Amino acid sequence: MPAGRPFYLTTPIFYVNDVPHIGHAYTEVAADVLTRWHRQSGDDTWLLTGTDEHGQKILRTATANGATPKEWTDRLVESAWKPLLETIDIANDDFIRTTDERHERRVKLFIEKLREAGHIYEAEFEGLYCVGCEEFKPASEIVEGVGEYAGQKVCAIHGRPLELMHEKNYFFRMSAFQQQLLDLYKAQPDFVQPESARNEVVAFVSQGLNDLSISRSSFDWGIPIPWDDSHVLYVWVDALLNYATAVGYGEDDADFARRWPAQHIVGKDILRFHAVIWPAMLMAAGLPVPAGVFGHGWLLVGGEKMSKSKLTGIAPNEITDTFGSDAFRYYFMRAISFGQDGSFSWEDLSARYQAELANGFGNLASRVIAMVKRYYEGGAVPAPGEYTAADITVQTNLLAAALSADAAIEKFAIHEALAQVWTIVDALNGYITEQEPWALAKDEADRERLGTVLYTCAEGLRALAVLLSPVLTKAAPKLWSALGVEASLGALAAQPLRSAGEWGQLKPGTVVGDLEPLFPRIDAA
Ligand code: MSP
Repeated sequence: MPAGRPFYLTTPIFYVNDVPHIGHAYTEVAADVLTRWHRQSGDDTWLLTGTDEHGQKILRTATANGATPKEWTDRLVESAWKPLLETIDIANDDFIRTTDERHERRVKLFIEKLREAGHIYEAEFEGLYCVGCEEFKPASEIVEGVGEYAGQKVCAIHGRPLELMHEKNYFFRMSAFQQQLLDLYKAQPDFVQPESARNEVVAFVSQGLNDLSISRSSFDWGIPIPWDDSHVLYVWVDALLNYATAVGYGEDDADFARRWPAQHIVGKDILRFHAVIWPAMLMAAGLPVPAGVFGHGWLLVGGEKMSKSKLTGIAPNEITDTFGSDAFRYYFMRAISFGQDGSFSWEDLSARYQAELANGFGNLASRVIAMVKRYYEGGAVPAPGEYTAADITVQTNLLAAALSADAAIEKFAIHEALAQVWTIVDALNGYITEQEPWALAKDEADRERLGTVLYTCAEGLRALAVLLSPVLTKAAPKLWSALGVEASLGALAAQPLRSAGEWGQLKPGTVVGDLEPLFPRIDAA
């Protein structure tokens, strides 16, 4: 099969100073759903995720735990971050660690190139640094401390004291890229999404840009600056480069040409690094800027960003152990508008699990399969007879919903795509209630009509299995297998998602099998 439209998506790489919470898992799931959707549509996809392992934050945590930074990061990556991908069923194509040799080698090539092109200089520097953010803070993000930090300058995000740093550093001449960045935001209005994020970035850059300190010499946990190993590279510059180094930058030109540019998914807290610093670095190196940067909202607890440092983090497996990974993926993608903040609540999760997954979708699937088995010899799907207006409404709604869902995914509106697909679930449930196949089954004279109704339901399930496969990665294959369509239509993963709504793909005579409960009852502990 010829390679389709390229779609290279990245998640941020995660700091391994601590274990993941559901806010991190949220970013991963969103990126995974988008990528699976594109993959299932035949696009040439690549999903990259990984870990951000250098810098002071990691160094201090490791030291506080009596480990070297390398021991610490190895331990956290193996025991917590890679297992997270299993817990929430992420189908990433690559996992990059900033301590990978491939990354370190390619980063050095990039930095050398910037220096040769005259974008780097050395200067004395003094500034207030937040180790939590790993950033010199602009005046707008410095506030007066309260309580135990009264009288000190603290970071507006972390609420912790800032550290005054005075060093001789290497600088990237970022200020020179202000106009080019503004031109980019203008020429490519969807470069930063959503709209609110774009406005913020444009306003920020319009005020003027400072040059960026890109090296540190007071500690050595980082990538040495190639021409001066008394300095290590600033952790954010190191981290942003992962998106290019993972796809071969500097060493594998064919891979890089095939994948780059990437579309980035990031939390809104790190939007500026991705929408300002990163494209400026790429411009300086003469490389294409990213395809776009989408800033999603935060999971809030008590109105504040969920975070480990504030002790509000919930471990993803606290949810998946009870509800399963499908419910985790569905809940966060459906309940929160992608791009806005949202609050997590156990009550809302339980209610949606019961109403939408178990009663709405799970029940629909089990009822239809049970009726085909009960009313048709050997469980063979009947051929439809003449379609009535009610059947045609199901067909046209299904096609429209599938197309709208795809259009929603194109603009990163994952919640909207799911809402569209759910109109099919609701429509089929309503159709069954109206058509009463159990009543039609009682009279031989209604046999043809019964066939049309059950074919309509089974074909609707066929489409739902395909449309939901990027989100319900466990339930959709179970349904596909119960529908018995593998032999006639092929594997679920091979079904082209963009034509899932086209009617009549299910072959009459297909023999349905057993369907295990997709969303079992959950007894309150
Ligand atoms: N290491 C940097 C990213 C470097 S990318 C070149 C970093 N790491 S992080 O572990 O702190 O955050 C990773 C991602 O998790 C970010 O996109 C961040 O927004 C997201 N989240 C962390 N807490 C979150 C919530 N409470 N809610 C939603 N997303 C959250 O930043």
